[in-house]
Amino acid sequence: MGRILTLKIFRYEPETDKRPYYDTFQVEEREYMSVLDALLEIQHEQDGSLAFRYACRGAVCGSCAMSINGILGLADRVQTRNLKSNILLEPLPRLPVFKDLVVDMTFFWQHFRKIKPWLTPAETAPERERIMSPGDVERIESFASCILCGACYASCPVTKRNRDFLGPALLAKAYRFLADPRDGRGIELLEKINSQQGVWGCDTIFNCVKVCPKQIRPTDAIVAARKLLVANFFKFLGA
Ligand code: F3S
Repeated sequence: MGRILTLKIFRYEPETDKRPYYDTFQVEEREYMSVLDALLEIQHEQDGSLAFRYACRGAVCGSCAMSINGILGLADRVQTRNLKSNILLEPLPRLPVFKDLVVDMTFFWQHFRKIKPWLTPAETAPERERIMSPGDVERIESFASCILCGACYASCPVTKRNRDFLGPALLAKAYRFLADPRDGRGIELLEKINSQQGVWGCDTIFNCVKVCPKQIRPTDAIVAARKLLVANFFKFLGA
């Protein structure tokens, strides 16, 4: 018989007048059980009204990001065997709660659209594919593998005090296109992040690096983008 896990879960039901509260459930731990497995078992067998997001179950879609014992992570990636038997689950901070563990990501996606996160070549598509050097690929590979789970956004103290701050994931995404030789936006994209809402708003706190479930370092992208801005300083002056 496995351990008995006690999961204390944040509950909020906006359709009722109830204030947020915590509910406690117990499940028997199975081999290789993830936090998401435990949540699914509770939802199927104890309380069908428990709300949480998930899709891929393989740390690819980023939907199941939440606070697990106060540490932001993906519920499908965190194994219960690595946790004590008392587990506290809460929604991502900094974002409004829709219901229980489901947050409203509207701010995050609104910011995301501002940087137009798709490849925008300067010229029309060539006949053959554009060849990238290994160095070019290495520069952007880690930032391109961001799954947009929002954990870094939720961990960043700047997003708490400045709603307009684009946040670490999106600034890293902007740098991913700035450093991509196939993208032709250059100055146009730099202008979008040349402000306190952009790369100059970062206080280099590094929470984003600590919580990223894909081991991406958004701060490195922010610093690299700042260097590009400084290198292009005279272009911004119109010189
Ligand atoms: Fe926030 Fe990361 Fe900068 S946590 S302050 S974006 S280093």
